[in-house]
This record gives sequence, structure tokens and C-alpha cells, in this order.
Amino acid sequence: MAGHRLVLLGFGNVGREFARLFLEQRRTLRREHGLDGEVVAIATARHGTVEDSGGIDLRKALRLAGGGKSLERCGEPIRAPLLEYIATAKADLVIELTPLRIAFKQPALDHIVAALRSGKHVITANKGPVVYHYRQLRDLARKMHVGFRYEGTVMDGAPVFNLLQETLRGAHVLSFEGILNSTSNLVLSEMEAGRSYEAGVAAARKLGLLEADPAMDVEGWDATVKACLLANVLMGGRLRPEDVPRQGISGLDGGKVRYVRAAGRRVRQVAKGWREARTVKASVSLEELTPDHPLFSIEGTSNALLVRTDMIKELLISERNPGLRQTAYAVYSDLIAIHQGRLNP
Ligand SMILES: NC(=O)c1ccc[n+]([C@@H]2O[C@H](COP(=O)([O-])OP(=O)(O)OC[C@H]3O[C@@H](n4cnc5c(N)ncnc54)[C@H](OP(=O)(O)O)[C@@H]3O)[C@@H](O)[C@H]2O)c1
Repeated sequence: MAGHRLVLLGFGNVGREFARLFLEQRRTLRREHGLDGEVVAIATARHGTVEDSGGIDLRKALRLAGGGKSLERCGEPIRAPLLEYIATAKADLVIELTPLRIAFKQPALDHIVAALRSGKHVITANKGPVVYHYRQLRDLARKMHVGFRYEGTVMDGAPVFNLLQETLRGAHVLSFEGILNSTSNLVLSEMEAGRSYEAGVAAARKLGLLEADPAMDVEGWDATVKACLLANVLMGGRLRPEDVPRQGISGLDGGKVRYVRAAGRRVRQVAKGWREARTVKASVSLEELTPDHPLFSIEGTSNALLVRTDMIKELLISERNPGLRQTAYAVYSDLIAIHQGRLNP
């Protein structure tokens, strides 16, 4: 039975939920997939960076992290700079779950490159490095014969890349429209129901949905990064989020949202990708959807993506009320895929 040695970069909402899922499913992974593994290192920004070559006690790590304590009591502190550690670690798979940054240069990119260059598989739910460097990372992973998977970057555990890159081989994406930011959709739904913008944002925070920097969600950055990521990965685009028209929900008037609803329409933030001649374009805008629009019924934290391809005319992928478990599942399903030798979606 193959024993994977995992390094977790980031032990926040997603990293911890993955640890819970991994603990819960250990026996099932062995029985159904012949997959055995240990988390041998965990890195954080302010809560310690530790390793245990025999496997970190994840229950203890979760207890410490849950109490806001340093992880240093559940392993040997790693003193080497993180990039050096990643390159030399006795591990075969790195899971990158540090916060989203909208920048060409970013620590998460360096983490992933260090892992791939040293022959380690990489799984990430972090959109930042993928949106700016998809081709480079994909090509590096191929050259090193290791896995690079990123299902959790868009729509959590709902199959987007697995479906469009792996299952629907031979189909080409012509365009897409999606409701891709749970926080914005939740806040808009709360405003439709009569609550304030602030109450909606507080509800998103309570669910662990808000990015470390809330502007990522409410200023429309998260949806814009996802639109660019889909356009770059699925349509061969070369877009950067900062160059794409973007409209967030911050400062939106609740009265306007309720007025539109009373008139039978809905304000929704729609992320789009399309082709104009040979150029791939993307945008994120607030739109008034009519009841005949396929995205009209998407409420609360639900997400949906309408994809038009040259083979299957219109395909609607929708995910009802996802939570952290669904994001953790994306990482978990990527782990199984890599274990099975499906290195790239
Ligand atoms: N939350 C979601 O629902 C969701 C859904 C899909 C995708 N994602 C993506 O998943 C990633 C993680 O999200 P999250 O909600 O888990 O974030 P989070 O709760 O803010 O956790 C981030 C973790 O990364 C650590 N960290 C920050 N900078 C680091 C660095 N330079 N080196 C090592 N560790 C570092 C933090 O350390 P400290 O604990 O010391 O601060 C923390 O443990 C993000 O890229 C996000 O966009 C999140």
C-alpha cells in the first residue's frame, strides 16, 4: 500500500477541514483506494511550522489550532526557511492552502514551484498562483512527471476542471457565465430578504466564507480571479485579474436590490468568459437577471456555472449551499486522483 507523505502549507479554514476529513476517511481511503498517508509537516504564518517524520498527530494539531495556540507542541519546529524545507522535505505531496493574493509574484507561487521542482506533487485550492501562472505550473509538473491539481480553486468540490478537462475530453469551451462568489451571493440574498449589507457580510464571516482580506469578496476580486482562471485554463486565455472589468457588491443599496426583486428580477454578480475573434475576454458585473435566466434561481451560498461548448450545447454545473467540507473534498478528491496516477485534470 502506497504511503503518501503530505506537507500542508496553511492550516486555516480549509487546511483544518481537510485534516478533519482526512482523519475521518482514513480507513475508507485504505479500503477503497489503497491509499495510505501521513501529514508530515504543517506550515503557518503565525502559528508555527512543524514536522514529524512519523506523522503529525492531526487531532492534537486541530485542538491546538482551534485554541489559537502554536502548533509547535505537535512536532519539531522547522527552522529552515520554508522554501528550503519544501525543496528538501522527505515528502511526496504538497498541499498549498495559504491565502489568496492578487499579484504576479507571491509566496504561494514560490511554494508550488519549489515543490514541483523537487519532484513533489502539488494540490492547491489557492487561485492566485494558478490564475497568473497556469501554463508554467502545468508544464513544470509535466516535465517533472508529478501531479498538479487545483479542483478547489473554483466552485469548491463541484467538478469543474475534473469534468471539463478530464471527463469531457474533445469538447471546447466557447463561453461561460457563472455565479462564483458565495459571499456576494449570500449578501445579495440577505439584502433581498430585507437584511442589511453588514448583516450579510457578518453571516458570510460566520460561515468561514470570507477571504482573509474581505475586499477579495466584496470588491469582486474573488469572482474576477475565478473568471480569469476559468478563461485561462479552459479557454486558453492569457488574462490577468487587474485588467478585467470588475464590479463588486460593496456599497450596493439594499433598497435597489429589493426594488429589482419586487419587479420580478434579481440582482446577481455574474462572471463571464467569451471569445471575440481569437481573443479570450472575461468580466464580472452586477446584472438584473430575469426568471428565464439559468442562474436566476441561485440563492445564498450556492454557486453555478453555465458552460457552452462546441459538443454539449449548454451545461449547468450547480452546487447548493456549499461549505468548507466541499472545499476540503476538492483537495481530498485531487489526492485520490494523484494516487491513482491521474496527475493533471
Ligand atoms: N475558505 C473557503 O471557503 C475557500 C474556498 C475555496 C478556496 N479557498 C482558498 O483556499 C486557501 C486557504 O483558505 P482559508 O480560508 O483556509 O484561509 P485562512 O483561513 O486565512 O488560512 C490560511 C492559512 O495559511 C497560513 N499562511 C499564511 N501565509 C503563509 C505563508 N506565507 N506560509 C505558510 N503559511 C501561511 C495561515 O497561517 P496563520 O494561521 O498563522 O495565519 C493560515 O494557517 C485560500 O487561497 C483561499 O482562496 C478557500
